[in-house]
This record gives sequence, structure tokens and C-alpha cells, in this order.
Amino acid sequence: MSVFKISSLEQYHQQYRESVENPEKFWARIAAHFHWHKQPKNILEWNFDNFDVKWFRDGELNITENCLDRHLADRGETPALIWEPNDPEEHHRVLTYNDLHEKVNQFAQVLKQNGAKKGDRICIYMGMIPELAIAVLACARIGAIHSVIFGGFSAKSISDRLQDAQAAYVITCDGAYRGAKDIPLKEVIDDALIACPFVKRVIVCTRTRRPISMIKGRDVWWEDEIKKVETLGLKNVHPEVMNAEDELFILYTSGSTGKPKGVVHTIGGYMVYTNYSFVNVFQYKPGDVHFCTADIGWITGHSYILYGPLCAGATSLMFEGIPTWPDAGRFWDIVEKYQVNILYTAPTAIRSLMGFGMDHITGKDLSSLKVLGTVGEPINEEAWHWYDNNIGKNNSPVVDTWWQTETGGIMISNIAGITSAKPTFATLPLPGVQPLLVDENGVEIIENNVSGNLCMRAPWPGMLRTTYGDHERCKKTYFSTYPGLYFTGDGATRDDEGNYRITGRVDDVLNVSGHRIGTAEVENAINMHAGVVESAVVGYPHDVKGQGIYAYVIDENTHGDEELTRRDILQTVTRIIGAIAKPDKIQFVSGLPKTRSGKIMRRILRKIAEGETQNLGDTSTLLDPGVVDEIIKGKLV
Ligand code: WT7
Repeated sequence: MSVFKISSLEQYHQQYRESVENPEKFWARIAAHFHWHKQPKNILEWNFDNFDVKWFRDGELNITENCLDRHLADRGETPALIWEPNDPEEHHRVLTYNDLHEKVNQFAQVLKQNGAKKGDRICIYMGMIPELAIAVLACARIGAIHSVIFGGFSAKSISDRLQDAQAAYVITCDGAYRGAKDIPLKEVIDDALIACPFVKRVIVCTRTRRPISMIKGRDVWWEDEIKKVETLGLKNVHPEVMNAEDELFILYTSGSTGKPKGVVHTIGGYMVYTNYSFVNVFQYKPGDVHFCTADIGWITGHSYILYGPLCAGATSLMFEGIPTWPDAGRFWDIVEKYQVNILYTAPTAIRSLMGFGMDHITGKDLSSLKVLGTVGEPINEEAWHWYDNNIGKNNSPVVDTWWQTETGGIMISNIAGITSAKPTFATLPLPGVQPLLVDENGVEIIENNVSGNLCMRAPWPGMLRTTYGDHERCKKTYFSTYPGLYFTGDGATRDDEGNYRITGRVDDVLNVSGHRIGTAEVENAINMHAGVVESAVVGYPHDVKGQGIYAYVIDENTHGDEELTRRDILQTVTRIIGAIAKPDKIQFVSGLPKTRSGKIMRRILRKIAEGETQNLGDTSTLLDPGVVDEIIKGKLV
């Protein structure tokens, strides 16, 4: 295991050095730990100018054989997934590797019986139940490309994604439980499908058994389909042998334009990278129970609930509910109940639980915890120490893991107990990761302790390969700002020891509770509201969410009842994007600060939203400096 697992600081440095000096040799050695139908010889081909990256290009494999089949002989009876339901009174479920293997095969048969095949795009819109994991893996088993959509997105968001991916199959549930809510997933899908006549099959898994419409010829029940393949005696599906560079999944994410893009990950590189990063960052040991609190609808769930841990033969805990329901002790009860060893969550959850004090923690046995992780947004010093003191009892390293949907896996992070943690710093790059900071002209910043824009100078196996259906957009988004470099969209600083501290997005992307939301997307949604003339959306610091959404709106139609109009606008945003994009504050204004060429000066709006009234910078180029005073006067607290 020594080439794979980093067990000392010296090994970290050694692996890092080797990964930079000879990436092909380094990754070939890591890749040799997996099950291939054809071992790759051609390790890396790349070009960032005309973005084209291929890892293990002549390798052939099926990722589900690596996640399931190869573990059966040694640990078939080891739990692969432990599922904790939303309601603590309901019984939990445990799926061993044998069970999961069987169920994935069965559902893969269902997909095949319904005509799905290699290369088809399959959209998955489900709650956090084991069948979601089964559906994802069944797609990979038959070589179909999954695209999971988070349960909080609206019908319109789903139909946009279905159209972009031209997905003919949808897998969903009647409903989903989240805290006190019962979310009508199938109903949302029905609305989405009005605009998607090309969808030929919807497979509906029962969870809440709320009344739903089932359209003859299009909609079928998961349970009935399973019975059919059982009756036919269909068991294991021969795993489709895929090329390493075939597409594994599409995951839509926001950028600085109005339209989300489909980030595409391919099989071989993603598998190798998520597994390698999982084992090393969290210092996973066989037998460990790993609890990643993310939803599988986001990249964190893809990489660190499913593929990374399952590839390692780990026990991955999947939680249907939310941290604060029925009370704010939910995470700690789960840790105690299953003797969780690795806990991986988001700063927003930590800050929210911090607010509930120690009542829900005191008396609970958290002694099984060995490693604590955070992801999704910068963690503030207070939350970091709270996590370290009260959850880890200063006895479990906290890993602050920086990465993105596009990077596939963790890029910059301390390695639990091996490299040093530093509060608010993601710290050092993993082997294979070559970060650098550049100034706005793209000139590399060599000195330390100054801020710059975070880029990568070389490819790593887990990186995105394209944006679905639009490679030009991918090149433009990530490789044109600083030619020859991958630009992350984040700002960062570096200390004298080489530790990176990520300060946040430098583009028009917000990070609300660890979820990425483009300001242009929110503006588009607000502008669709009847009466709205124009709007501008910026982020502002929020105690729990990290960033809140502040919208300045010109509306000619408030009918004197601003509060009602505000609520109407929120309703429109919920319809167009989903509740996650609802502005926290809407200020009605009569004008927006614009330059003479008509560009909105967001810098000023951002400062005002942050509470700044004095140092707004240069306002002399404004078309009408008067609007600024009006906006300051009307600022919402
Ligand atoms: C953006 C990516 C990576 C999975 C979850 C979010 C921010 C992520 C950190 C961290 C500071 C972080 C960045 C990044 N971010 N992790 N440890 N420290 N910022 O994935 O939705 O693709 O968002 O999240 O701004 O660009 P995502």
C-alpha cells in the first residue's frame, strides 16, 4: 500500500515531489491498484491551450466492479452503506457489499429492460435513500451517464438540465422527507416533463407514498420493475466494459453566466482520484465508518459518499435528514449510534449547530471520531475551533478540504494527522496538484502573504473534461482568463510554509450554505417577475450561511405593498431555480449605479450590502451618482 497511502510527513513530501517530477509514473503506480479489464499504458496526454486532457486513455474498466465486485470475496458481509432515515423512529438500513452488489445488478437489469444502454443520459431526482445510490451505480454498471439533480431544484431547472443533456430516462421518487417536510418530487418532475417530450421512461421509487400521477406508457414503479426482472430470473448484469475516458456523469453547476453548465467527469481518472484522495486525506483504515453529511445531489456526495469510499471498500453512512430535526443533536446521535470514525460536513452546518450551544452534545459519546472534515466554503476561525474543541475534543485532526465540482476530488487539504492543520487554511496541495497564484494580468505571484487568483498549472486525474455539449464554453470558462492555466474562480493567499488560504470566489458566483449560486442566474429569475424592470444581486456576509443573497430590484408594480411584492418575487425565484436561490433581502430601488457605458457597478452594491457607507471607492464614473445615496438610505438591515 505504500505507494498509495501516505503514512508520514516524509512520504507526503516524497509522493508530492514524484507526482510533480514524473506524473505519469506516479499515477500509473496508483492506477495499478484498481481492477482494469485492460491496464492503461498511455497515462496522460494533455494540452491546456486547446483544452484536451486524457488520463489512462487506453485503459478499460467498469467503475462498479471497483466499487463492488472486487470487494465481495474479502468483505462481502461488510456494510457498504448504512442508511439513517430522516425520522429517528424509523428503522435504519444496512446494505453489505453483497447486498449492494445484488441490488445494483437488479436495478441495472431494470434499466436494460426499459431500453437504457451505454451512453444514454439518465437523470436522477431522488431523496437521500439507498435507492439513490443504487440508481447511480446501476447507471455506471451499464455504461449510462448519470446526472443527479439535487432535490431542491425547481421544475424549470430540471427541464433545462434534461434538455441540455437530452436525457430520455428519469429516476425519481414519489416524495422525499427532509426534516419536517415532505417534498413532492414526482410532482416537480411532472411539471418539468411538460417541456421534455423526449423523456420516454420515468421510474418512480416509493418513499413517502403520497398520491402521485402515473402516466401510462411513460411512468413505471421501481418496485414493479424489480419484480419483473425477478420473475424473469435476471440476476447479474455483465458490467459494460468502458474506456477510461468514457463519460461517467454530468453534474450541473452555476457559473458567472445565467445558465448552469454540465460538468462532465470521465470514468478512469475520476475513480483513481476520488479513491486516492479519500484514503489519504481522511487516513481511512479498513473498518472505519465514514459519515459524509452532503447530499448525493452535489459533487461531495458523488465523490465522498459513493465513489471514493465504495472504491476503498469502506462503510459509508448516508443520512436522509437534516442536522437540526427533530433537534440539533441529530448528527451527534448518529455519531454515537454507529460509532462514526470520520465525519465530513460543511462550515454552514457547524455554524448552525454552534448556535444551539452544548445542550445537544453534552452526554453523547463522540469518542469514536478520529477525523473531522469540512468542505464547501471558507471556514471561519470561530467555527473551526468550536468543531475542534467540542466535537473532536482536540483529539481528532480537522481537515479543511478545498475543491470544486470541476476538480472531482479534494485538491488542497491537510492530510489528517500527517500534515499540519492551520485554522482557516486549506493548507497544502495533494500529490498531483500544482496550484499557483496569479495577479489580474496572469503574472505568477511568487512572494507569499499576498492575495491572488488561484490557478492550476497541470492536470490531475479527477479534473473535468468538458462541459456537456459545449466544449468552447468549457475552454472559455476555465482556460481563457489566464491562458495555459486552469482558473478556479477563487481568490487565495499563501503563507511562508506554502499553506493556501482560500478567501472566496472572485467571480460573480455566490456560496450560500456551501451551495454555489450564480448572481446572473438569480437576476434572470427575478427579472422574470412581472413588474421587475431590472435587478442586481450581490452576496453579503451571513453568520450561518457564509454568504446571503442581497437583491436590489427596480419594480414598477409594487402596488404600494412592498412586502407582498417581495414575497411574490421570492415565489418566482423558487419557481425558476428553486428555494435555495431565494434572496435573503430584497431592496426596492429606483435606479442602479451604472457606468456611462451602462455596466452595473456591483462593487458599490456589494459594499453597501456589507454595510459600508463611506468608502465606496471611485463613484465619479457613475452615470447618476445620486442613486447611490438613495440606495444607502434604503438599505435593509
Ligand atoms: C467552491 C466550489 C467541493 C465540494 C463542495 C462545493 C468553495 C469549497 C472550500 C474550502 C474555502 C471552499 C470555493 C470553490 N470551497 N471548499 N475548503 N475552503 N472555499 O463545490 O459547488 O463546486 O463549489 O466552493 O469557492 O470554488 P462547488
